[in-house]
Amino acid sequence: MKGFAAWSSVLLGLTSSVIAAPSKYAPTIKEAVEVPRGWVRVSPAPADHVVDLRFGLPQHNFKQLEQALYEVSDPFHDRYGQHLSKEEVESLVAPHPKTLEAVDEWLASHGIAKSICSRSPAKDWVMVKVPVSLAEKMLDTTYHVWKHAESGDTLVRTTSYSLPAHMHEHIELVTPTTYFGRPKGLATTFRWSDAQASLASSGESSIRSASGTVVDASCNSTITLTCLQELYNVTGYTPAATDVNKIGITGYLEQYANIQDLQSFYADQLPKAEGSTFNYTSIKGGQNSQNLSEAGIEANLDVQFAYGLSWPTPGYFWSTGGRPPFIPDLRTVNNTNEPYADWLEYVLSVPNPPQTISTSYGDDEQTVPLSYAIRTCASFAQLGARGVSLLFSSGDGGVGDGDANPATQQCKTNDGRNATRFIPAFPASCPYVTAVGATVSIPEKAVDFTGGGFSNVFPTPLYQVGAVASYLARLPAGTYQGLYNKFGRGIPDVSAQGDYFRVWYRGNPVHVGGTSASSPTVAGLVSLLNDARLSKGLPPLGFLNPLLYTKGVAGLTDVTEGNNPGCGTQGFNATTGWDPLTGLGTPNFGKLKEIVLA
Ligand SMILES: *[C@@H]1O[C@H](CO)[C@@H](O)[C@H](O)[C@H]1NC(C)=O
Ligand SMILES: *[C@@H]1O[C@H](CO)[C@@H](O)[C@H](O)[C@H]1NC(C)=O
Ligand SMILES: *[C@@H]1O[C@H](CO)[C@@H](O)[C@H](O)[C@H]1NC(C)=O
Ligand SMILES: *[C@@H]1O[C@H](CO)[C@@H](O)[C@H](O)[C@H]1NC(C)=O
Ligand SMILES: *[C@@H]1O[C@H](CO)[C@@H](O)[C@H](O)[C@H]1NC(C)=O
Ligand SMILES: *[C@@H]1O[C@H](CO)[C@@H](O)[C@H](O)[C@H]1NC(C)=O
Ligand SMILES: *[C@@H]1O[C@H](CO)[C@@H](O)[C@H](O)[C@H]1NC(C)=O
Repeated sequence: MKGFAAWSSVLLGLTSSVIAAPSKYAPTIKEAVEVPRGWVRVSPAPADHVVDLRFGLPQHNFKQLEQALYEVSDPFHDRYGQHLSKEEVESLVAPHPKTLEAVDEWLASHGIAKSICSRSPAKDWVMVKVPVSLAEKMLDTTYHVWKHAESGDTLVRTTSYSLPAHMHEHIELVTPTTYFGRPKGLATTFRWSDAQASLASSGESSIRSASGTVVDASCNSTITLTCLQELYNVTGYTPAATDVNKIGITGYLEQYANIQDLQSFYADQLPKAEGSTFNYTSIKGGQNSQNLSEAGIEANLDVQFAYGLSWPTPGYFWSTGGRPPFIPDLRTVNNTNEPYADWLEYVLSVPNPPQTISTSYGDDEQTVPLSYAIRTCASFAQLGARGVSLLFSSGDGGVGDGDANPATQQCKTNDGRNATRFIPAFPASCPYVTAVGATVSIPEKAVDFTGGGFSNVFPTPLYQVGAVASYLARLPAGTYQGLYNKFGRGIPDVSAQGDYFRVWYRGNPVHVGGTSASSPTVAGLVSLLNDARLSKGLPPLGFLNPLLYTKGVAGLTDVTEGNNPGCGTQGFNATTGWDPLTGLGTPNFGKLKEIVLA
């Protein structure tokens, strides 16, 4: 094959000199997308509007990084737990020197000196602020101001861009271009629960869960820290590695974590934690207003349950970017980057990020451009290889829009065809993270809104092949043919309670639910598992899935009831073994602790 390629390029070379085919410097399309539903083009972007261009250069040895990730995360491998250092990861994602040279040269051809660019530590990202007029020349495109019809939010994007043919192999993606993931596409996944609509009670004072734990009967209608500790067999565990262990929560979209609400929550549910708070870091202009009437329900839910379950483990809260209030005629220079890129740039630059991190935000996978999804997912792999466990909520629309009615369902493909198709969530669909679905009541069943299904972008990873095949083999032949990708990464991996959580919000207790509640719950328990390992001198767990799908199964309680309607269907059914609603099941901390210390 190699010989053939060399031969054919000789042929091509000959041909082009004879008939003057397009020059290798001619721009050819790098990426083109359909505009996600709901965005309307307003006007051309002002020529002097400044964009923060970021060029993602190919991560030359990513395959090696991926292999290292799988080896250090596989409990049966010799390298288990031997996580890579920041520098080792950086050397694996560093671009080829030829790429660095080619990119510098190309930037210089547009008058951009090396000295005005900034670079990520691995040099796999080059950043430079340029006016729209120059960006348009470089990318042979036209930027427009787009407006989100429903929210009125605006941003500057394009639907396609080009690079000179000879640069395609040196630049994997350019942002901000085709990702409309901000400000509203990035949805939080909480929902209000109706506290009054209490679940039925058997009249007993306690309930036995499927794993055999005994839980207070009130937990069937209101979830507190104590309920989760009882249900998931945590009771009695005391963290001991709080000098080295940390837990992180990400915040986006002006979701402010309120300290006064956290204190009220502790007074209500964990009095010994009163007076403790968290380390807040602002990324790219993110804020954390402590005005009680600006507290965010998503941020409050996440920090209260993640920090409450892992207390006194130090908690970190990152608030990334503000909404870019782009007003075309004000020539604003606000950051218009995509959200995960900013957060990743920061967290990858930190020498020792928290070992456990939970994110309760996501997008419809189909609205995330392919190159962006792949690159972002690859960045999560870097964190996993460094020993960080990443938890993401799986979404709150069942297999798509949460609508079982075929007449009103909204699951349309974003490829111009408007075909009906299930809509998985990203980043939950990335194979290098742990996706968390939601259950309800005791004994637990899948809650009807829990996001789940199969990625249309990422193939089924090896660690999951058996579990997914066994689920699909039991689906009646032809089920949902054409609605999902049976070769895709299955979502979620695990699950936890996700409704009727008692959270303090703007001074009052309220009830909320969502896979937004499930992810910080699992993160809180994973952080305790890391505590158990760190206090025995063992490395942290890092990327969890290779463990979960093997030894971990014995420490999870299978959830076998419930379905997740959406896209005009009844969705999938929970079953024995892995299923695309509750994954492998819910945690049994006591058993998992024995497994991870064995
Ligand atoms: C918990 O609530 C569910 C849903 O209403 C109900 O089916 C179940 O019987 C309740 N469990 C107990 C032990 O009361
Ligand atoms: C918060 O974390 C940052 C980054 O690790 C650190 O530099 C800072 O000192 C911490 N702040 C507090 C108050 O602990
Ligand atoms: C707190 O926030 C509310 C809502 O944004 C605002 O109306 C009020 O003026 C703020 N209070 C203070 C003291 O800033
Ligand atoms: C956006 O830009 C405006 C005008 O330059 C500025 O007042 C505002 O603080 C900026 N917002 C953010 C979140 O950076
Ligand atoms: C798809 O739906 C949009 C409205 O959401 C409509 O404008 C477009 O014409 C439809 N395309 C096809 C091929 O039906
Ligand atoms: C779910 O279970 C119901 C009831 O047993 C069955 O009718 C349906 O076909 C199942 N659906 C799937 C997708 O397995
Ligand atoms: C809870 O965890 C302990 C180990 O810490 C284990 O011995 C016990 O069986 C577990 N309880 C249940 C009900 O699974």
